[in-house]
Formats: sequence, structure tokens, C-alpha cells
Amino acid sequence: MEKKNIDWGNLGFSYMETDKRFVSNFKDGAWDEGALISDGNVTMSECACVLQYAQTCFEGLKAYTTQDGHIVTFRPDLNAERMEASAKRLEMPVFPKERFIDAVVQVVAANEAYVPPFGSGATLYLRPYMYGKNAVIGVKPADEFEFRVFCTPVGPYFKGGVKPLTIRVSDFDRAAPNGTGHIKAGLNYAMSLHAIVSAHEEGYDENLYLDPKTRTKVEETGGANFLFVTKDNKVVTPKSGSILPSITRRSLVHVAKEYLGLEVEEREVYLDEVKDFAECGLCGTAAVISPVGKIVDHGKEICLPSGMTQMGPITKKLYDTLTGIQMGRIEAPEGWIRVIK
Ligand code: PLP
Ligand code: COI
Repeated sequence: MEKKNIDWGNLGFSYMETDKRFVSNFKDGAWDEGALISDGNVTMSECACVLQYAQTCFEGLKAYTTQDGHIVTFRPDLNAERMEASAKRLEMPVFPKERFIDAVVQVVAANEAYVPPFGSGATLYLRPYMYGKNAVIGVKPADEFEFRVFCTPVGPYFKGGVKPLTIRVSDFDRAAPNGTGHIKAGLNYAMSLHAIVSAHEEGYDENLYLDPKTRTKVEETGGANFLFVTKDNKVVTPKSGSILPSITRRSLVHVAKEYLGLEVEEREVYLDEVKDFAECGLCGTAAVISPVGKIVDHGKEICLPSGMTQMGPITKKLYDTLTGIQMGRIEAPEGWIRVIK
């Protein structure tokens, strides 16, 4: 398979149209068998539920070329399960797990020419999503839905790769108590757009959102969970019912304990204690682990001892082990790697 002529090493995190995408439609109470298609555009009613009432959820995962030349994905079963939770919370039908994984596999295989080579620093990002498609004008769920998966080759989510980030404590909330923060609903991202634009205008890379109820505890950023490291090398990660259950974070907790022998605490993390941590990172499919060097709380700067030039040492070990597992350099726990070819 000849690869596309793409400057893999200089890709950012942006959309590039690829050859094939998977589409399946839900009508009269059932999903059709679905197919790979070439057209990257969607046509629907002007009154589609997704356009009027944002009835949509999505997932994000990556395909990697391993050191020995295979193409793999990482824990797609967990993306399928999370999308099931999102669909149920948004009154959408569940796209069955085995079919979800099969659609991902089909899309990667059909776009093999776009899977970045091993060592290029790029990966193939997959975006499964689902939306309510038929016209509704009263506030109610659609009864026709479309499930799609497309892919696009990507580089680092944050410009500058592993340069530590500066983030601010946001005055906006991304989730409500008892709301939808724990699922991957498009609406969570719509409400973060103003916050991220104003953060960028003020020179910050991202927002640190606080818990919406008490505004005293660290939740997550717009697109990643937090991992902190204490001065005695314990990994601490916020536990909350209103953050997205990151697959990367759950994997890193296992890596920290089982591969690196580190103690891990999953607990509420108060903003007040952040000044005492040694390292901080943002973890997610897109972010991988992006180090944070500085957190600004309304003018008060919290400078992580790991500094503004490189990842902290524990963050680096976590990063190297996780990416080693994903790229086939390190043996993966049973069931984590789905080989596509
Ligand atoms: N938190 C939010 C709000 C996200 O959008 C994402 C990205 O999917 C994550 C966390 C990280 O989740 P995962 O590691 O499953 O990609
Ligand atoms: C991902 O990491 O897959 C996400 O969905 C985050 C998004 C902000 C790009």
C-alpha cells in the first residue's frame, strides 16, 4: 500500500479529508447494515434534531503504525461503551459494540494510505459520532439517526508538542451538577467554545474547569483529564461525576501502578492543593499527555516545579510507557490492542 504524500512530521491537529467513511442509518427502530462511502458531506433536513437541539455525541480514538509495521487501535471497546452511555443519556439508540469496533476497523483499513508511518510523530485520529437526523420542532428526540466514523491524520493537539502549557482557572463551567459532563455530548464542547476562545485571546493554552457545584475542586480541561504527581512521586487524578471518564487516564492509572510501581490516588483534588504538586499533565486521546508548567488563578501564578521547558520525570515515564504500548515497543495488557493488519 502506497502512502499518501503527506508531510507527516509537520501535521497539526486539524481535519484532512480522507477517502472513505462508514455510515449507518437508524430508521423504524433498527440500524441498517451500513457501508463505506466516499462522500464526506452530510445532507439533512433544516429542522434536524441535531441542528436545532444538539442531539449528538461523539468519540475519539487513534490508529497507530507499530514498530514492526502493524496497524493497531487502542482499546476501541471502551470508546464503544462510552458512546453507549452517551447515546442513552441523550435519548439516542445504541450502536452495538461489536459493530462499532468493526466500523472503526473498516475505516482504518480503507484509509490505510493515510495511516502515518511509525516514528513520524503523527497518528490517524478516528471520529465516530451519531446524531438525530429527522425534523423535530417541539423539544423531543429524533427517531431517525445516523452513525458515522471518519478518520484524519493528525499531529500534536497542542502547538509546540511537548512544551509545557500555561492554563488558567476558568470562570465558566463546562458541566452542570447532574448534567452531561460525564458523557461525550457535542453540547459540552459548544459551551466550552467561548471559554477557549477567550483563554487563547488572553494567552492561555487551555482552561482548568472547577467543579460546578462548589467551584473549589479541579475537574478537567475542555478536552482532557488531569494527572498530578506529588513531591513523593504519587500519581493523583481527580475523581468527579461530572468529568469525562478518559480512556487515556484510566489506562495511565494502570500503567502507573502495574508498569511503574507507583502509588495512585483517584480522589477529589482541591484547587488549593495544586500548589503543592510537583508535576501536572493533561491526558486524553488527542492530548496524549501534555505537560502543564503553569496554572494561573486570577492573576495568582502556580508554577509547577517541573518548569516550562520539559515534561516532569514521572510524566515522561508515563508518556513513554503508554506510547510504547500503543506503538508496540512495550507489551500491552491483555485486550488493549486491536490489530487491524
Ligand atoms: N475530557 C474531555 C472533556 C475530552 O473531550 C476528552 C477527549 O476525549 C478527554 C477528557 C480524554 O478522554 P480519552 O482519554 O478517552 O480520549
Ligand atoms: C479526544 O481526545 O479524542 C477528544 O475528543 C478531545 C477533543 C477536544 C479533540
